[in-house]
Amino acid sequence: MPSIDDNIEKWNDDYDWQLGGDAWSRPWGGAESQWYGCIFPRIHRYLPAAAVLEIAPGFGRWTAFLLDHCETLTAVDVAPKCIEGCRQRFAGYPQARFETNDGRSLPMVDDDSIDFAFSFDSLVHVESDALAGYLSELARTLKPDGVAFIHHSNYGSYRRSANALAPLQTTLDRLPTVARAGLLRMGLYRGAHWRASSVSAPGFAELSEAADLTCVAQELVNWEGGVVLLDAMSVVTRPGSRWDHPARVVKNRLFRLEARSIRKSGTAYSRPQPMTP
Ligand SMILES: C[S@@+](CC[C@H](N)C(=O)[O-])C[C@H]1O[C@@H](n2cnc3c(N)ncnc32)[C@H](O)[C@@H]1O
Repeated sequence: MPSIDDNIEKWNDDYDWQLGGDAWSRPWGGAESQWYGCIFPRIHRYLPAAAVLEIAPGFGRWTAFLLDHCETLTAVDVAPKCIEGCRQRFAGYPQARFETNDGRSLPMVDDDSIDFAFSFDSLVHVESDALAGYLSELARTLKPDGVAFIHHSNYGSYRRSANALAPLQTTLDRLPTVARAGLLRMGLYRGAHWRASSVSAPGFAELSEAADLTCVAQELVNWEGGVVLLDAMSVVTRPGSRWDHPARVVKNRLFRLEARSIRKSGTAYSRPQPMTP
C-alpha cells in the first residue's frame, strides 16, 4: 500500500532519475514511440487543449510532448526533485509552470480553468483516498467542457487473491523471476509494480461519481502481459460536457502485445532509447 510519504521517499530520495524515466519506455522502444504509438492515439480527441494540467510528471517524460498541444501547462508533483528537474528541463517554455503539491489536492489551480488533465504511469502508485482528493479537485478545476485522462491501478480487483497469499509474499519475493511472473499472471503475487491495492477500475468510477464527475471510458490493460489487468486508464469529465456519454469499458489484454508491435515499427521511425541525457 504505497502512501504519499512512501511515494515521496521513493521518487524524491531513492530513484535515480538519470534517464528521466525513459527507461520505463523500453517495452515500447522509447518514449517517443510510446507517446505516438500508445498514448497519443488514446487522447488525440482531447488535443489540442488551451490549458493542460499534468499530475505527477516526474522528470517530464510526457510533458515534453504535451507542450506541443497546449497554450499553457501546469504540472504538479509531490517530489521536489522532480519539480526542480522539470523546471530545468523546460526552462525555455515560459508557458509551463511546475509546482510541488501534497499528493492529493491542487490549490495552485483555479476553478474552471483546465481543458485537459493528464496523468500517465504515476497515479498507479496512489491509493484511493488520494485519488478521491484529486477527483474532487478535478471537479472544481475542469472547465465545463474539460476532460481528464488518468492512468491508475486496477490491482484492487485482485485484492482478495493477493490478500490470501499476503503472508507468503516475502517468500514469493525470493522466487526466480519466471516463477513470480507466472504467479503474477494468475493474480496471485502482489509484488505487482508497486500498484495501489485499494484502487480498482469500478472503484475509480465510483469515486468519480462521488466527486460529481462522469467516468465515460475505461480501458483495463495487462501492464505485465498475461491475463492480469493490473492497470486502467479512465476518462472523466463534468456531467453534461461535450465529452459526456454513456460509459464504455474495455478489457484489453493485447496491451503488452501492442507495445511489442509499436517497438518493432518504431525501430524504423522513432528516436532510439535512451533519449534523455
Ligand atoms: C513512476 S514516476 C512517473 C513520472 C512520469 N509520469 C513518467 O511517466 O515519466 C511517478 C511520479 O509520480 C509522482 N507521484 C507519486 N504520487 C504522487 C501523488 N500522489 N501526487 C503527485 N505526484 C505523485 C512521483 O513523485 C513521481 O514523479
